[in-house]
Amino acid sequence: MDSPAFHHALSCAFVVAGAPSRLDRSRWRHRPVRSVCRRVRMQFDGAGARPAPLIHHLALLPGDGIGPEIMAVARQVLDHVSRRFDLRFKLEEHLVGGAALDALNEPLPEETLAACARSDGVLLACIGGPKWDNLPREKRPESGLLALRKGLEAFANLRPAKSIPQLIDASPLKPDVVRDADVMVVRELTGDVYFGEPRGLHYIFQGNGEREGLNTMIYTETEVFRVARVAFEVARKRQRKRLCSVDKANVLESSQLWRECVTKMATTYPDVELSHLYVDNAAMQLVRAPRQFDTIVTGNLFGDILSDEASMLVGSLGMLPSASLGDGTYPGVFEPVHGSAPDIAGQDKANPLAMVLSVAMLFRYQLNRSDVADTIDAAVNRVLDAGYRTADIMSGGMRLVGCREMGDAVERAMSE
Ligand SMILES: NC(=O)c1ccc[n+]([C@@H]2O[C@H](COP(=O)([O-])OP(=O)(O)OC[C@H]3O[C@@H](n4cnc5c(N)ncnc54)[C@H](O)[C@@H]3O)[C@@H](O)[C@H]2O)c1
Repeated sequence: MDSPAFHHALSCAFVVAGAPSRLDRSRWRHRPVRSVCRRVRMQFDGAGARPAPLIHHLALLPGDGIGPEIMAVARQVLDHVSRRFDLRFKLEEHLVGGAALDALNEPLPEETLAACARSDGVLLACIGGPKWDNLPREKRPESGLLALRKGLEAFANLRPAKSIPQLIDASPLKPDVVRDADVMVVRELTGDVYFGEPRGLHYIFQGNGEREGLNTMIYTETEVFRVARVAFEVARKRQRKRLCSVDKANVLESSQLWRECVTKMATTYPDVELSHLYVDNAAMQLVRAPRQFDTIVTGNLFGDILSDEASMLVGSLGMLPSASLGDGTYPGVFEPVHGSAPDIAGQDKANPLAMVLSVAMLFRYQLNRSDVADTIDAAVNRVLDAGYRTADIMSGGMRLVGCREMGDAVERAMSE
């Protein structure tokens, strides 16, 4: 275990794509290990006991495009939460994506990653835009996002797709099919074919020009167990307490291992009902009868596809939040699913509700304050009931508002 190869492997595990290799992990850790452990327990115990008042240090990453506009609304919500729940926040903004490239020539500057790692939670708006589209891969804004998730060891991506009655017509699926659908997709985020080695694009025989593209679908038991644990914990917190594991175990060895590990983990969660589906069937069932699903757990590739498919239950990008969580050593990243919407940036047309719902996820899954999360979710519900709509979710007879006005409406609804 003391070989140079081992140390290399260890340092590689800590060095993230696009992040500077000089990153010193010890500098990230400003708290004693015990406090970190307490935070891990708080993330999931859901015991209902209110944690003592403390200051939550939050890292805010507005990013690019509509990012600063929707982050301003997130701040407004946090200000309100602070007053209403007597919570104290220390909010620090940092650069990421194109904004960071412009200022520091890095999509994820070292100081941003370090600040996020020592925070209690990361709120990210969105990154990217045409200005940076032609840069080499490691210099693109998206590399900053991947490096952030990797650097914070955020291996589980939670994407809720809950049908919103007031916007049921925004879904391309029939109202009867999507009504009351409420699915949480837990996608493994840092393994599988996206990161497996070997990978590459090679010439098979030099000379004749024939090439092959190669990727490796691979999971270790540890990787499956840890994401399965998150998924069981999430399922346990939900009303129906059902978990469906999605794989392709009839064809793939990595899926066979996946299924074995998830099944083993189920013995620790007797209160959660576990089922298994092959991915092709799951894809079909999601649009045929989505109400049968509660929580889904799946690998990176299948999760990438299924979470986008599930988002069609809601129908509107501007309404979809997400969370990327690790084992609690580092804080999670809470962000809307949508991109930076360069076509409407700076015009006060952005829908801030996915960002607001991401703030709610921060309280539910990171700060263990379901009461605050419920208040935020209820406020969003109320503004929709009251007919407020940004252009992306506008329909006849509703009241068209901009990003700022929607933020004001949410704030008012939180006081009701
Ligand atoms: N997580 C992220 O930050 C993330 C995710 C996806 C794409 N991107 C990046 O965003 C940039 C634009 O990508 P894209 O156009 O493919 O996807 P996009 O999600 O930014 O936009 C797609 C469409 O949806 C609209 N839209 C998106 N979010 C909205 C909101 N909150 N309110 C109202 N309308 C909204 C946009 O105006 C656009 O018409 C690209 O550089 C891409 O790489 C970033």
